[in-house]
Amino acid sequence: MAQARAAGKTVALVPTMGNLHAGHMALVAAARKQADFVITSIFVNPLQFGPNEDLEAYPRTFDEDCKLLQSDGCDAVFAPSVEAIYGNNTEQQSRIHVPGVSDNYCGASRPGHFDGVATIVCKLLNLCSPDLAFFGLKDYQQFLVIQKMVRDLAMNVQIAGVEIVREENGLAMSSRNGYLSPEQRQQAAAIHQCLQATAAELRSGNRNFQALEASARTLLEQAGLQADYYAICNASNLQAATPGDDRLVILAAAYLGPSRLIDNLRLTL
Ligand code: PAJ
Repeated sequence: MAQARAAGKTVALVPTMGNLHAGHMALVAAARKQADFVITSIFVNPLQFGPNEDLEAYPRTFDEDCKLLQSDGCDAVFAPSVEAIYGNNTEQQSRIHVPGVSDNYCGASRPGHFDGVATIVCKLLNLCSPDLAFFGLKDYQQFLVIQKMVRDLAMNVQIAGVEIVREENGLAMSSRNGYLSPEQRQQAAAIHQCLQATAAELRSGNRNFQALEASARTLLEQAGLQADYYAICNASNLQAATPGDDRLVILAAAYLGPSRLIDNLRLTL
């Protein structure tokens, strides 16, 4: 990396928690298009997991990940240990809190999650000093949190968002899909179907946001999923949508068996 930088090359970082799939690889491909040297970080970040979440069970597939990255032209892998990042006392770790966009939705359901995300992303950016960093729009709230952190703290990096990569049935790819049975994977496609149905209503002029949210929640439950949230929001600040908004995002999170799945759909009216 030092050589690349000394030669005036642009450096991109793709932060991940590993167990790489086509969604992650789309970020690497986008990074390769825009930068000369691409670093992928692999770090399962304990700071962003709640006490009853899947930190221990989170799939760790380092060797397969490295093979995939090598065959897809990633230039370097950064995979620090937990000790190297946090020493032996995560409680004493300084944390970054991004107010506003991190408050609701995943922020409300997973207290402390976005502080953990912002803190590790800041740390990875400081350690790798990339010109650009790539994030998936699948985690749309995370994307906004990171954009705001970088702006608020005047961090010298450009943040790029990459479109959601889906399975054939519409299910957004996720490492947590690995917890699902084949039947559950089919059921999980209901999330994307609901998002599309809501978007079609919005495009045809329906502005009864609460009724649209309620009927989507019912559809999810009928498909056997338990809705955590389903919300039509202003795409810039994640406030509840108002009829005057023209850039919207529909955010969804639902539990299915052992997994908590998230997805979203952005639309301009
Ligand atoms: P992880 O879940 O491994 O995701 C790494 C990156 O891949 C994130 O930017 C995420 O939005 C993106 N991604 C995952 N699935 C995707 C899909 N189906 N389509 C497009 N992009 C997808 O998100 C994290 O890790 C962590 O919170 C991290 C940012 C690395 C901080 O620890």
